[in-house]
Amino acid sequence: MKMPCSPLNIGDQFPNFEAETSVGKIDFYDWMNDSWAILFSHPADFTPVCTTELARVAALIPEFLKRGVKPIALSCDTVESHKGWIEDIKSFGKLPSFEYPIIADDKRLLAHQLSMLDKDELNADGLPLTCRAVFIVDEKKKLRLSILYPATTGRNFDEILRVIDSLQLTQTKSVATPADWQQGGKCMVLPTVKGEDVPNLFPKGIETIEVPSGKGYLRTTPQP
Ligand code: BEZ
Repeated sequence: MKMPCSPLNIGDQFPNFEAETSVGKIDFYDWMNDSWAILFSHPADFTPVCTTELARVAALIPEFLKRGVKPIALSCDTVESHKGWIEDIKSFGKLPSFEYPIIADDKRLLAHQLSMLDKDELNADGLPLTCRAVFIVDEKKKLRLSILYPATTGRNFDEILRVIDSLQLTQTKSVATPADWQQGGKCMVLPTVKGEDVPNLFPKGIETIEVPSGKGYLRTTPQP
């Protein structure tokens, strides 16, 4: 029996790989160059939810590129199949072009290596399909976020852009983003920030929310 690969953790080096895609063979690291990447997988070509997702990402390309993030999709079908499906995606999404690659993982090598197979979701031949995995990889090729959704639930790509905004903000400022944060909203001061460092780090000031414990850990600040 094939042993499952151990899942990647946040902060792990994302493995490099070579793959055939809808735009030719790529070396993942070379393709990323100095950008971030979002690699997202799909159960199969020519399926309804996947079609909505790939069309949505195609429409959001300017938003991803504004953030320095290159999208790349993956499903366990061939390049030929992907090329045919892209025409459907363009038609469904009323897209003049389709500007990102789809990896052809028809041998399920990456799906297995990156633990993306869903044992409960089988194709007509009884083979497991890939779930809707999302990997966000930074320019140093470190995994910054991973999410797994089942085949029956399409992803919210506004949420994925929101997460990228949070990742990119919090890597340089001493803040974390609270529940339902949106770009420009109040942020939380990191618990590790000492009181004496506050004026320097947060010239716009902070507010401490009183709670019964009196521990003073709920500190907000305008988005730096
Ligand atoms: C879909 O993309 O619609 C889909 C694919 C596999 C299983 C369920 C839904």
